[in-house]
Amino acid sequence: MDKKEKFTVLGIETSCDETAAAVVVNGKEILSNVVYSQTEIHKQFGGVFPELACRKHLDVLLPVINQALKEAGIGREQIDLISVASHPGLMGALLMGVTCAKTLGYTWNIPVIGVNHIEAHLYAAFMSQLEEIILPAIGLVISGGHTALIRINDFGDYKLIGSTIDDAVGECFDKVAKMLDLPYPGGPEIEKLAKKGSPEKFDFSAGTVKGSPFSFSFSGLKTQVLYTLKGQNSQKNSAPSLPLESYPDVAAGFQNAACQNLVDKTLKAKEQLGISSIVVGGGVANNQFLREKFDKYAGSDTRIFWPSGQLSLDNGAMIAGLGYINYRKNPTPASLSLTPSPTSQDTFLSLFTPAPAPC
Ligand code: KG4
Ligand code: ZN
Repeated sequence: MDKKEKFTVLGIETSCDETAAAVVVNGKEILSNVVYSQTEIHKQFGGVFPELACRKHLDVLLPVINQALKEAGIGREQIDLISVASHPGLMGALLMGVTCAKTLGYTWNIPVIGVNHIEAHLYAAFMSQLEEIILPAIGLVISGGHTALIRINDFGDYKLIGSTIDDAVGECFDKVAKMLDLPYPGGPEIEKLAKKGSPEKFDFSAGTVKGSPFSFSFSGLKTQVLYTLKGQNSQKNSAPSLPLESYPDVAAGFQNAACQNLVDKTLKAKEQLGISSIVVGGGVANNQFLREKFDKYAGSDTRIFWPSGQLSLDNGAMIAGLGYINYRKNPTPASLSLTPSPTSQDTFLSLFTPAPAPC
C-alpha cells in the first residue's frame, strides 16, 4: 500500500436488507454514508424475505454508490480501494455487493477486498471515537444475527469469550415485537413501547448456560413473553389473553431483562479478564435504554465505546473503514477471486461455529 496522505475507500454493504455505500478516508473520515433501507418491503412479511432483498439490492446498488460518490464530492479516479461485506449474511444478498464490487474494481482498475460484516460492526465503534481505544478491549456484538463477547487484542486478533446458544438478541427483540403486534424491525418499536410501561410489572429473565458463564440464551425469555401474553403452554398462533393495556409493561419488562443480561455478562467478562475498555457493535447498540443501563452499572474505571447513531445499523462506512485497516496490514487484494460466504470463514468469526443464522 503506497504511503499516500489520503487513502480513500469505497465501502459496499448488502449482507441483509440494507443497500449501502460510503466513502471513507484513512479508515475514519466519513465523506459520505448512504443507506437505502428495505424495511418497508420486508415489513409485510414480518422479517427479511431473502429473494426480495436480492432483487432490491440489484435495483438500487448502483444509484446508491453514485449517490455516495456524489455526496463525497469525488470521482472514481480518487478511490484507492473498494471494500465489500463478503461474509457472513444472506448468500444471494452478499453476492449482489461482491459481484458489483468486483465488476467496478475490474473496470476502474481498483483493488477489491472482502471484509467480515460482524467485525465491521465492532470497527464502527472505533471509527466513532476521536481518541484511541486502549486495547485489549471486550467486544460485545449485538445484532440481528449475532450475540457474542469477544476479547479484542488488536484488529485481526480476537478470541471468542461467549456467544448465544440459540437466538441472537436482535432476533429476540424482533420476535417479541411480532408477538406484541409491532412491525419489523422490532427493536426500535419495543424500545418506543417500553417507554410507556414499567419494567417491574413482569418478572422476566434471560437464560444462563450451565458451565459457560459468558454464553447467552434468549429463547427462554421469548417463551416467558409468549406465556405471559397468551397463557401457560400456549403456541405462537394462540389468541392473546393479556389485555392490550399491559403490552407496554411486557415490552418494558422484556427489554429490561434482555439488556440486564447483556450488561451483567459483559461487565463480568471485563472483571474476570482485567480489561477496562468495552466496545459495542451491531443494531441493538442503538438502544438508548441499554446505553443507560451500561452507564448505570459500569464502574468509573470502565470506558464504554459505542458506534455513533449512523454507524450502529448496517452501513457502508464501517465496511470501508475496516477495509482500510485490513488492506494496510495485508495489501493483497482478492479482487476477482473474491467469493461471498453466508458464514464467517476467516480468523475473526471462524470463532463462530456452528455457523449462526445469516444477517
Ligand atoms: O446490525 P443490524 O443492523 O443488522 C444485522 O447485522 O443483523 O441489526 C439489526 C437488529 C434488528 O434485530 C433490530 O431489531 C435491532 O438490530 N435493533 C434494535 C434497535 N435498533 C435496531 N434493537 C433494540 N433496540 C433498538 N433501538
Ligand atoms: Zn449488521
